[in-house]
Amino acid sequence: MITVKELTKRYARNTAVDHISFNIEKGQIVGFLGPNGAGKTTTMRMLTCFMPPTAGSATIAGFDVLEEPMEVKKRIGYLPETPPVYPEMRTGEYLEFVGRLKGLSKADLSKRVDYVCERCSVADVRQKLISKLSKGYRQRIGLAQAIIHNPDVLILDEPTAGLDPKQINETRDLIKSLAGDHTIILSTHILPEVEQTCEQVIIINKGKVVATDSVHNLQNRARGIESVIVEVAGRNADLDAAEVQAQLEKVSGVIKVHFKEKRQTRSIFEVEGSNDRLIRGDLARAIVAAGWDLNELRSSAMSLEEIFLQLTGDHPATAAAKEEPAAKEPGK
Ligand SMILES: Nc1ncnc2c1ncn2[C@@H]1O[C@H](COP(=O)(O)OP(=O)(O)OP(=O)(O)O)[C@@H](O)[C@H]1O
Ligand SMILES: [Mg+2]
Repeated sequence: MITVKELTKRYARNTAVDHISFNIEKGQIVGFLGPNGAGKTTTMRMLTCFMPPTAGSATIAGFDVLEEPMEVKKRIGYLPETPPVYPEMRTGEYLEFVGRLKGLSKADLSKRVDYVCERCSVADVRQKLISKLSKGYRQRIGLAQAIIHNPDVLILDEPTAGLDPKQINETRDLIKSLAGDHTIILSTHILPEVEQTCEQVIIINKGKVVATDSVHNLQNRARGIESVIVEVAGRNADLDAAEVQAQLEKVSGVIKVHFKEKRQTRSIFEVEGSNDRLIRGDLARAIVAAGWDLNELRSSAMSLEEIFLQLTGDHPATAAAKEEPAAKEPGK
């Protein structure tokens, strides 16, 4: 449904998007994940024909963004970083206005406005001036305008930015409920958002794609090894951590043992083992056989956050500080 090939955007002083390529199948919901300044918004602007690419190509439902922008625009709904609402209009009035712009017939218009108001939970503010509404409502009106013409593809730039936790959950549920009928690409730098909402994830950093995979595969791929946290205690006497470490290293399947910390009589280790062998049973037996107590044994699964940091080699918050403020849209 969305095909991107070697898409590139160069500004005078930097390359915001650098030869990125990916494919998104129909009905999928894909997270476009990256730290601030990674190039998410720039990519979305090119996909929505807001801005021409410097090089490369992108097609939406088979239509090229450069050659057939009108066909592309008919098939996409776009929620930009800042919702494109007119504060001086009333909610219903604004949605009718957008519907007309998008070419809905008179007969369809009121039905679609009813439908999106209901779907995006803005029916109760239909008669209200948008300037009087909270950020959460504006964001939902932004979503309502994106789906008013029932597009095949939805491109949502940080759809939950600035919402409170309850609104975030409602918006996520709404987006999930739209998948299937629509192909959705949503950008975010919030990892739980991707874990909770998306099936696939595209991670970009400094304008380049660093990973495209399912959330599940990515977690497995980032660490092709099993990692276990082991807490060992001495029965009566203090433990000799070095001795425990030596014993653990002897267990078959163990690749590496890192000593993490000592808390009173307990020592904590992180043990890496090969993925194809479950080492936990052997570890437990070895510890007990040596006369020590096994206080804890748990898997140290890598979170998507760790994977993200590993792949981008940067912390989202610190990356934000490096960006030029000029790149931001007003109000963000
Ligand atoms: N109009 C512009 N002129 C020059 N550089 C720009 C312009 N817009 C964006 N950039 C630069 O392009 C890069 C990518 O910016 P972009 O807004 O696409 O990032 P983003 O991933 O959407 O970040 P955020 O999470 O902060 O929204 C940044 O380095 C930014 O400074
Ligand atoms: Mg952005």
